[in-house]
Amino acid sequence: MYRDRPHPVRLADYRPPEFLIERVDLTFELDEQVTTVHALLEFSRNPAATRGDGSLTLDGEQLELIELKLAGQTLTPAEYQLEAEALRIHRVPDRFQLETQVRIHPNRNTALEGLYQSGPMLCTQCEAEGFRKITFFLDRPDVLSRFRTTLIADQDRFPVLLANGNLVSETRLPAGRHQVIWDDPFPKPCYLFALIGGDLSVVEDQFRTCSGRDIGLRIFVEPHNLDRCGHAMQALKKAMRWDEERFGREYDLDLYMIVAVSHFNMGAMENKGLNVFNDKFVLASPDTATDEDFQGIESVIAHEYFHNWTGNRITCRDWFQLSLKEGFTVYRDQEFSAEVGSRDVQRIADARFLRNHQFPEDAGPMAHPVRPDSYIEINNFYTPTVYNKGAELVRMQACLLGPELFRRATDRYFERHDGQAVTTDDFVRCIEEVSGRDLAQFRRWYAQAGTPYLDIEADHDATRHLYRLRIRQWTPPTPGQPVKEPLHLPFALGLLDDQGRECPVRLEGDVQDQPAGTRVLELRELETEICVLGLRTRPVPSMLRGFSAPVKLRYAFTNADLIHLMRYDRDGFCRWDAAQRLQERLLLRLTQDPTTLIPDDVVAAFRDALRDPATDPALIAELLTFPSESYLADQLDVVDVDGIHRAHRQLASHLGTHLNDDLMAAYAHNQDPAPTEVTPRAIGRRRLKNRALALLMAVDGAKVFNLCQTQFETADNMTDTLAALRLLVDHGGAAGDAPLQRFYERWSQVPLVIDKWFSVQASSCREGTVERVRGLMAHPDFSLRNPNRVRSLIGALCHANSVQFHAADGSGYRLLSDVVLELDPLNPQIAARLLKPILSWRRYDAGRQAQMRRELARVLETGELSADVYEVASKALD
Ligand code: PHE
Ligand code: ZN
Repeated sequence: MYRDRPHPVRLADYRPPEFLIERVDLTFELDEQVTTVHALLEFSRNPAATRGDGSLTLDGEQLELIELKLAGQTLTPAEYQLEAEALRIHRVPDRFQLETQVRIHPNRNTALEGLYQSGPMLCTQCEAEGFRKITFFLDRPDVLSRFRTTLIADQDRFPVLLANGNLVSETRLPAGRHQVIWDDPFPKPCYLFALIGGDLSVVEDQFRTCSGRDIGLRIFVEPHNLDRCGHAMQALKKAMRWDEERFGREYDLDLYMIVAVSHFNMGAMENKGLNVFNDKFVLASPDTATDEDFQGIESVIAHEYFHNWTGNRITCRDWFQLSLKEGFTVYRDQEFSAEVGSRDVQRIADARFLRNHQFPEDAGPMAHPVRPDSYIEINNFYTPTVYNKGAELVRMQACLLGPELFRRATDRYFERHDGQAVTTDDFVRCIEEVSGRDLAQFRRWYAQAGTPYLDIEADHDATRHLYRLRIRQWTPPTPGQPVKEPLHLPFALGLLDDQGRECPVRLEGDVQDQPAGTRVLELRELETEICVLGLRTRPVPSMLRGFSAPVKLRYAFTNADLIHLMRYDRDGFCRWDAAQRLQERLLLRLTQDPTTLIPDDVVAAFRDALRDPATDPALIAELLTFPSESYLADQLDVVDVDGIHRAHRQLASHLGTHLNDDLMAAYAHNQDPAPTEVTPRAIGRRRLKNRALALLMAVDGAKVFNLCQTQFETADNMTDTLAALRLLVDHGGAAGDAPLQRFYERWSQVPLVIDKWFSVQASSCREGTVERVRGLMAHPDFSLRNPNRVRSLIGALCHANSVQFHAADGSGYRLLSDVVLELDPLNPQIAARLLKPILSWRRYDAGRQAQMRRELARVLETGELSADVYEVASKALD
C-alpha cells in the first residue's frame, strides 16, 4: 500500500546484480496459519558488476524475521537494517553463506502472490515479484540459482508435497508429519520457484521424447475433479511432440507436473517442472466446458509447456524484457493451435483479439511499447501489448525470414543463450545474424508504442496496364512519445481479377517470372509506391494477407470490392476482414441513422457465404460474427453506446429476417451428430449453428424461440446449453428466469459452471443488468476472494457488456469503483485490471465522461491505494 507516490522503475537504470546466489536450500514447515521458511543462500560477488559500498540489500515483504546468520554467526541489530520492503546488511564479504528464518501467513494472503491458501491446499505464485513474500532474496530474473527444497507438513492434511525438479526423498516424521525433498538441477530465477501442499489426486501418463527418454507426466487436482483431466493431458502430449518437431526442443527433466488450483490471478504459471494452473485451464468435460474452454485449455497447456525453453532455459534479464518470453511463447502457442486446428480460424482469432484488446490499449492512457521503458507496478504490464503485439513482432520477423531461415535463427537463439537471462535485443540479433539482414529499423517496433496506420490509395492505368498502390504509414502520438518514426513491416499483397482469380504481383525490375499469388513486400518509408505491371483490368487488392503486420489499414474499398474479397479470396484472414469491413461500415451508418438502408447485395453476400459448401463452417461462423460493440466504439470520435447497440440488433434482425431460410438450414444441417466431440470440425459446426440461432433469435418469433428452448433443455454439451441460455436470458423476463434457475440447480456443485451462471447474467444486454449484478454480489456463491468469480460477474459486466456497463445514469461506473475500492486491499492485481474499461473515458459524451472521471477520482482519493491501482488510475486522469 502506498503512502507517498510510488516511483517508477526505469529500464535505463538497469545494473547487473552486485551479488549472485549460486545455491538456495529452502526448508518449509508448512501450515495454513504460520509457515516457517528457513533459507540457506550461497552468495558470491558478481565479477561482471561494479563494486558498491560493501553492503547487501535483499528484497523481502511481509516477512517476520526470526533468525539471521552470516557465515554461521547471528547478526546483531546493529549489523543490519530491516525496512518494509528490504533487508540491508551493512557489511558482507565477497563470498559467504547467509541463513535466514522467517514466518509467513498463507491464510491471510488474499493477494495470491507468494505462498497462499487455495481451498484445502497451499500453493505459490512468484512471478513477477512474489518470491520476496516467501523469503529474503535478490528477487530479480537475472539471478539464477540452483534450488533444493525441503517440505515438512502434516501427513493427513498435506499428503502430497511438490516442488520443482526431481524427487530426492520422502520420509515419515514423528507426530504425524512427513518430509519431502526436491532438487532442481537447472539454475533458475526465483520467479520460477513453486511448491504445492495438499490432499490431491493425480492422473499419470508418459511421454517418450525424440531422443528416447521417458518423461513422467502428472496432473494433480482435488479428488472430485479427477475425471476432467483427460483433455489437458492429451494437449500436453501434443504440445511436447510439436515443440520437438517444429522447434527442435526436447523436454529436459524426467518429470512434468501440472497442478490445478481454484484461486489464481492469471491463466497459469510456467514454474520449472511444476506448472500451477487456474483450474479453468485444466478441467473439462463436454457437459461442463464449452468448446472455447476446451480450446483455451489446449492453448494454455501448450503455452506453459513452451515456456520451458522460451522463458525458463532462456529467461529475461529484467522485467522490461517480459515480451522476450511472453511474445515468443504466445507466437509459439498460436502456431501450435493453427497446426492442430485451422490456420485461418486461428489467425482470425488472433486478429480479432488484437483489435478488441491491444489496439484500444495502444490508443489509451496506458499505451506502452512491447518493451516498456518504465513502470510503477510490473503486474500492470502483463498486457495484450507485451503478450499479443509481442507475438506479432516475432511473427513479422518469421515472415521476413521465411520458415527455414527463421528456424535457423531460433536454433541459434536456443543454443547461444541457453542458461542465460537476456533481452529482446539478443533475440533480434540472432535473427539478424542468421539472415544477414539489418533490423535496426525493425527494432523500433519494440520501443515505439501505438498502432500504425497504413493509408492506401490505388489507381489503375488501363492503357499501360499499370496498377499503383500508394501507402502512407503513420502512428498517432502516445503518452510520453509525441513523435513517431516509420517502421519496417511485411506487407503481404495479393491481387484478384474480376473472376476472382489470383494475378501475379509483378514489379518493375523483377528478374524472375512471378507466379500468381501472395507476394510479401517490405515497407520502410513514410510513403511507398508499389507499381504492379501487366494488369489489363483493375484488380481488387487483397492486402495484409494473413494479417502480416499489426496495423490499421485504411483504403476506400467499395462494397463490391469487399463482396468480391469475401467470396473469392484464398486468404481466410482477408475474407473475414472484408466481411468485417462490410459490417462495420453498415453498423456505423446505422448507428448514426437507423433509417439507413441495408443493401441487398451485402445481404446476398452473407447468404452466399452461408450456402458455400466448400468453406469450413468455422470460417462461415466468423464471417457472420459482427465486430464487437466495443470495437465499433473505438471507431467513433464520440462513442454512441446506445446507437451502436441498436445498430447491432438492427443488422442482426435484418439478416435474421432476410436469411431466415438459410439460417434455419444451417441450423438444421449443423445439428451435431457427435455432440460431445471436440474436434475442430465439430467445434466449427456448433459455432455456425449457434451463430445462426443467435441471428434467428434477433427476430421475434415463436418457432425460433421454441427451437432455442428445446436446445437449452436437450443439449448434452455445455456449448449448446450456454449458447441457448444466453439467448433466452437476453430475451428478457420469464424467458430467461426459469432456465437460469434450472441451470443453477443442476450445476451448483461445480464452481467453474457457476462462474458461467454469473457471467451470463452480467453480460446480458437486458435492462436492469447493473442492479442485478449488485444483487448477485450478495449471492452466497459470490466472493471477492476468488478471481475467477470476480471476473465472471464484475469482469463480464464491465468488459463484455458495453451497453449496460455504460448505462447513462453512471450506475455501471459506480459499481465498478465500489468493487475496485473493496477489492484493492484484498487483491490489488485484480482490482487494477478491472479498471481497464473506464481508462478511455475521454472518448465518451460529456455526461459519461464526467461520471467516469468522478469515479476514477474517487478511487484515487482513497488514502491507502495499492501501487497497482494507483498507477492505472493516475495515468488515466493524467
Ligand atoms: N507467466 C504466466 C504466463 O504467461 C503468466 C503469469 C504472470 C502468471 C504472472 C502468474 C503471474 O504463462
Ligand atoms: Zn506466458
